[in-house]
Amino acid sequence: MTSELLDANGTIPVFAGTHVPQLRLPSSVRLEVMQTNGHHAPAATFVETEIISNEEIAPEHYLMRVRSEALANGEPGQFGVIRPGSATDIHPILPRPMAVYQYDKAACTADFVYRVVGYGTAAMAQRRAGDIVEIVGPVGRPFPISDTTNGILIVGRGIGVCSLTTLIDEANRRNIEIYAVFSARNKDVVLGKDMIKKARGNALYVDDSDGSSDVENVEPWISEIIESGRVQQAYVCGSNRLIELVTRLAAPADVETYVSLEAHMACGLGYCHSCATGAFGESAESPLVCRDGPVFRCHPAGVTV
Ligand SMILES: Cc1cc2nc3c(=O)[nH]c(=O)nc-3n(C[C@H](O)[C@H](O)[C@H](O)COP(=O)(O)OP(=O)(O)OC[C@H]3O[C@@H](n4cnc5c(N)ncnc54)[C@H](O)[C@@H]3O)c2cc1C
Ligand code: FES
Repeated sequence: MTSELLDANGTIPVFAGTHVPQLRLPSSVRLEVMQTNGHHAPAATFVETEIISNEEIAPEHYLMRVRSEALANGEPGQFGVIRPGSATDIHPILPRPMAVYQYDKAACTADFVYRVVGYGTAAMAQRRAGDIVEIVGPVGRPFPISDTTNGILIVGRGIGVCSLTTLIDEANRRNIEIYAVFSARNKDVVLGKDMIKKARGNALYVDDSDGSSDVENVEPWISEIIESGRVQQAYVCGSNRLIELVTRLAAPADVETYVSLEAHMACGLGYCHSCATGAFGESAESPLVCRDGPVFRCHPAGVTV
């Protein structure tokens, strides 16, 4: 274990654990594993590559840029499973899943933005430019955007915004209108602010400090966008309350809703089953977030899919 990770007493620091697992979906929401319809997203490969940069961009938040053609050619919503320390570090042994925040296919780079919430992300924050990092990626089913879509709704909260940023880039590339809600704990959290520019003004930035992020405050804005017929698909990540809200409002308007789920992962490849959703109740083989997700379609509970 690298000594910088130990506190003054030589023990592993205890983290506040403010990061809330997302897997317990509201009972009002039902998940559907997406059909691939013949589309196969880039398959995961093992990447051993150099860290180009790893800088703090806001309190507790870091951006790691790595060079890799395989990762740079991933699709919106796919992620990497990153070994936090070096290959010789015994701890932490398990990799941590991180959404790709930005692809640069021309430069062959992929960016990850992460919040330090525990031991693994603290170890990632210790890595330096020039270090070698081990990543499996790109992993998972990407966000689908239909060929006939001309408007999308994006709703992200906290670090969950990182799963949606590549989707915004793709929508801009295709000249699709974007309507976005970014929700944060406080005004200092930078995530999403650069995305507001990319959403070309059609964005609402809300936070907990003044109550603007309360569901009853964002509901009228989302409701108006959906009811006006301006969007055909909606994408949510980072908040169960917002997943519930968007699923409920979108269904009557035939707007397809997709969610990117979080789960603890040990392999990212479908072997260990640590990321089983358990969300399908009677299913003997629970869908896996890494193999069958992280993107799932959402329906109001009670609607047969
Ligand atoms: C597909 C996917 C994409 C993700 N993308 C990002 C991203 O872009 N940026 C980012 O900062 N984080 C992202 N995460 C979450 C990230 O993987 C966890 O924050 C990280 O693994 C925590 O590791 P740790 O060792 O620092 O924390 P730990 O010490 O393992 O945990 C600290 C706290 O976080 C909780 N936690 C840990 N891992 C998860 C998890 N996977 N889901 C829910 N709660 C968890 C623990 O229960 C605990 O309360 C993503 C997760 C998934 C599944
Ligand atoms: S992380 Fe191992 S099966 Fe999903």
